[in-house]
Amino acid sequence: MADKVATLHLPDRAEPVSLPIHSPTQGYDVVDIRKLGDAKLFTYDPGFMATAACESKITYIDGDAGVLQYRGYPINQLAEKSDFLEVAYLLVNGELPNKAELEDWNYRITHHTMVHEQMARFFQGFRRDAHPMSIMIGVVGALSAFYHDSLDITNPVHREISAIRLIAKVPTLAAMSYKYSIGQPFVYPKNNLSYSANFLRMMFAVPAEEYEPNPILVRAIDRILILHADHEQNASTSTVRLAGSSGANPFACIAAGIASLWGPAHGGANEACLNMLQEIGSVDRIPEYIRRAKDKNDSFRLMGFGHRVYKNFDPRATIMRQTAHEVLHHLGADNDPLLKVAMELERIALQDPYFVEKKLYPNVDFYSGIIMKAMGIPMNMFTVMFALARTTGWVAQWKEMIAEPSQKIGRPRQLYTGHTERNYVELGKRG
Ligand code: CMC
Repeated sequence: MADKVATLHLPDRAEPVSLPIHSPTQGYDVVDIRKLGDAKLFTYDPGFMATAACESKITYIDGDAGVLQYRGYPINQLAEKSDFLEVAYLLVNGELPNKAELEDWNYRITHHTMVHEQMARFFQGFRRDAHPMSIMIGVVGALSAFYHDSLDITNPVHREISAIRLIAKVPTLAAMSYKYSIGQPFVYPKNNLSYSANFLRMMFAVPAEEYEPNPILVRAIDRILILHADHEQNASTSTVRLAGSSGANPFACIAAGIASLWGPAHGGANEACLNMLQEIGSVDRIPEYIRRAKDKNDSFRLMGFGHRVYKNFDPRATIMRQTAHEVLHHLGADNDPLLKVAMELERIALQDPYFVEKKLYPNVDFYSGIIMKAMGIPMNMFTVMFALARTTGWVAQWKEMIAEPSQKIGRPRQLYTGHTERNYVELGKRG
């Protein structure tokens, strides 16, 4: 219930409009504008700069303070003490699991990792050089063609099983996309491995050799997945919610989320960031790129810098930075030229008045690409890794939305600035 009310006085109306103000458990007050529609008035907010599109209990961000919490737990505690499947349970179910719940959850996810064998034939329809994100959009959407037994979104049991299938199968599909692109046989999941170890094995094992997952790399993958698992109502999550608001099945909704994530301003940033570091190539060329990033007439932006919400620092970046150093040190790559360019770029940008004044700090993607490249994950798989992690958040947000009794189809309004009504002109009479 709202405990405060805002009163809106409009120039051409006698009566003011009363708008309830909702107080969140954390964060800024939210003015409830739903009644404005009755008063034949809409709000205009392209890019949703000041619009809460839903109520949610999953993730909280305070961009000014650099805070990110999943279900109230700070991200640094989860990255330090938890593992990805436990975090997935927390996001989807709302609480940390007890021992029996965790065992059951891990068992169920692990025992759903295989995909229907016919899925393998799907891959053969793609060119070998297809971007793995384009394959992922297709194959994740195609899951809905295989699991008719769990597509009734009004049934909570179906929703649960779809959630488990998605979290379980997306890593298998992601690794298959990679294997297909390099012409190697698909590697089936192995149930005695953890989620992240299993993923690394499906990516890098070959039938001709034994594969032993490296614990430091497994831990790094787990951290990358935890840090990217959810991020409140970002573009791809909002896409999943909007697609799901029409009652579409969850596999189709997650495919829509993957499509939205692909863009360079969102999940594609880590790939774009590494491309940029390679293009810069050496420390002495950094000033030229800093100059370009500041030039209003140049569309170049420093990829991996800036964030729509974090305006002081990205708490995920702090953890990723540390992990990047651990992994590169372990792999003996401390002198990697790309890392040198990245560290110098970070140093210069953090001191440069342009970046300081605009509050442009390195974001999570600045470091995650460096880690993944060092591990041998190819650049075109970076956004797939993000999609893999974010599937859990998308699933949690989708489940939350569908379970909401007052849930409605999403239908934004518009500020129409086109022609007023005019008569059709015959082809021969047009100028
Ligand atoms: N390099 C140079 N200038 C920048 C950058 C950048 N990376 N980011 C923002 N600016 C400038 C921008 O030109 C604008 O300047 P002015 O006020 O003079 O016009 C000002 O900073 C504000 O930029 P904006 O585009 O209005 O800010 P936004 O909040 O809409 O954009 C962003 C956020 C992430 C799209 C943007 O910072 C960006 O394009 N960054 C590079 C891409 C990137 O790293 N994205 C990954 C985000 S983290 C992953 C995720 O959570 O999805």
